[in-house]
Amino acid sequence: MYRDLASAVQGLVTGELDAIANMANAAAVIYETLPDVNWVGFYRNVGGELVLGPFQGRPACIRIPFGTGVCGVAAAKRQVQRVEDVHSFESHIACDAASASEIVVPLIRDGELIGVLDIDSPKPARFTEEDEAGCVKLGEILSQVL
Ligand code: SME
Repeated sequence: MYRDLASAVQGLVTGELDAIANMANAAAVIYETLPDVNWVGFYRNVGGELVLGPFQGRPACIRIPFGTGVCGVAAAKRQVQRVEDVHSFESHIACDAASASEIVVPLIRDGELIGVLDIDSPKPARFTEEDEAGCVKLGEILSQVL
């Protein structure tokens, strides 16, 4: 499934350099393809703060400081955060009360943190190591076109 999803994302962004258009289409195809997800979207690094970008799902928190929440920790550490139970993640920011688990992938190009890809699920421990590998691949494709 992730192979097909990566091809679909690659197809949608190839030849297009507009970051907003690419994030919007990527969020849409990921949201449509992955089962049991309730939020898929981007936070962009704007002057050292994460600012909400294109997404699918319920309205979300607009600004997240580095180091706060699952997204902020992923950005500060530049490491994937795969959280089985968001309620036990100390600084988790609840945008949708239905979210139970979450994966956040930092998007890095030429050593620069461009932003993060954030995927939430209403199912606890929804994201496996396989999901992580698939999402990292999506992040690699996207960081080239944002
Ligand atoms: N839960 C995230 C905030 C963003 S929403 O999930 C869309 C966090 O703790 O960083």
